[in-house]
Amino acid sequence: MSSSLENKNIIITGASRGIGAGIAKYLAQQGACLGISYANSKAAAEELLKNLDGEGHFLAQLDISNEESVDAYFKEANKHFNNKIDGLVNNAGITKDQILLRMKAAEFDDVIATNLRGSFLCSQKVLKPMMKARGGSIVHITSVIGQMGNAGQANYAASKAGTEAFSKSLAKEMASRGVRSNCIAPGYIQTEMTEVLDDNQKENILSSVPMNRMGSTEDIAKAVHFLLSDDSEYITGQSIAVNGGLYM
Ligand SMILES: NC(=O)c1ccc[n+]([C@@H]2O[C@H](COP(=O)([O-])OP(=O)(O)OC[C@H]3O[C@@H](n4cnc5c(N)ncnc54)[C@H](O)[C@@H]3O)[C@@H](O)[C@H]2O)c1
Repeated sequence: MSSSLENKNIIITGASRGIGAGIAKYLAQQGACLGISYANSKAAAEELLKNLDGEGHFLAQLDISNEESVDAYFKEANKHFNNKIDGLVNNAGITKDQILLRMKAAEFDDVIATNLRGSFLCSQKVLKPMMKARGGSIVHITSVIGQMGNAGQANYAASKAGTEAFSKSLAKEMASRGVRSNCIAPGYIQTEMTEVLDDNQKENILSSVPMNRMGSTEDIAKAVHFLLSDDSEYITGQSIAVNGGLYM
């Protein structure tokens, strides 16, 4: 058994910033060879690539809400990694918050198309190489919001709860082939997204977190690392909450 990610090829979606960038830096430090991507900001992804430990990483454009883009990205990534993909982290995600009374169908559809359907499209692409190798680990970054719901985030909550159910089904279908599927459900994590909150909003959030601090991207990365490594080889179909006790 080993927690090392040496010789493992791992694809992380949405890694150009925030939690994804934190996961990428941490996994590269553990010896993984990474497939990263950018939706729009190529410069940020190139900057990340320059600062990653190790060599042989892969970078290309990827829009997980677009089937052709997913096809093209995984075709190139498979070529780059010689059809050996050991891990996938479905991290890319969006929010389009609105109270239900005012939510437009397009706002609902966009969030589902990226967060839930995007995870489906990307997961499907790694199954064949993983089945062939009789091993692989898929990790979905969901959210505490998918577990407890949140006013103004019905679309987002549904996309994350849906991803959790999707992950369990994938886990059941693939367990006999050695492919595992699990979720990490973060609570409030310090990223560009949460930096915009004012002191009052931050205090409100922290008052509901028993550990009285926001999580770091490294808190998430460490849990992702565990689920990708052989240390978790008997764990599938599970969800690990990394939320400082916010929801139990
Ligand atoms: N920040 C938090 O507190 C928090 C809490 C719980 C869950 N999450 C989840 O963690 C994940 C990362 O969140 P974050 O805070 O780093 O957000 P972020 O907005 O900083 O990063 C999201 C990344 O996804 C990419 N992305 C968005 N749409 C895409 C598309 N169609 N195709 C490809 N890439 C796309 C973006 O380019 C970006 O790199 C998301 O799934 C989010 O729902 C975040």
